[in-house]
Amino acid sequence: MHVVVTGASAGIGEAVVRAYAKRGADVTLVTGPAALEVPHVREVVKVRSAAEMHEAVISRAADMHVVVMAAAVADYTPADRAAQKVAKEGDTLTLVLKRTPDILADLGQQRRASGAGPVLVGFAAETEQVIARATAKREKKHVDLIVANDVSRPDAGFDVGTNAVTFVGPDGVEELPLQPKSRVAAEILNRIEKLLAARPVKSL
Ligand code: C5P
Repeated sequence: MHVVVTGASAGIGEAVVRAYAKRGADVTLVTGPAALEVPHVREVVKVRSAAEMHEAVISRAADMHVVVMAAAVADYTPADRAAQKVAKEGDTLTLVLKRTPDILADLGQQRRASGAGPVLVGFAAETEQVIARATAKREKKHVDLIVANDVSRPDAGFDVGTNAVTFVGPDGVEELPLQPKSRVAAEILNRIEKLLAARPVKSL
């Protein structure tokens, strides 16, 4: 089985990579330059921008069974890159930012247009209206499963080993108890397996 996972800096993305490696999947990890070294990965693609991640993921998607978008992709990026050091002038500085491409939404759109493609999993880190926002995200981006979590909880945020997530999938909403990220990752893989089993057979 071929899987793309994005983002793996000590979070749930890394736990997903480890869980897939343990199950013998061929994992391509697309990640930023500061990522940890994760063993048992077939390919590591290091990217430096949302645009590079977009290209790396989209160009591989057709050959993949699953894409797990665990990266916290920046929503905006500077519109221009200064060729030289910017000299200071005045007391304030205004930067113009432009929207980055939404990788997950583009994957969802492509799959809708072609009628085939990988199982798509996205994440929704929220501080309020967690379920409503995750549900809206799932519909808007046309993905199979959204893993939502309330990052305002002290025991379920970015810097801890545990997480309490809620799955929003085709069968509705399922709340999981607080548990180690490795367990959360195993649960995500189990849901993906169900999603794969429910779709027409595709041999790669
Ligand atoms: O809309 P929001 O950024 O909250 O959605 C989060 C999900 O969308 C995550 O799975 C993230 O990896 C993905 N995403 C993306 N491209 C972006 C922004 C977010 O694929 N430019």
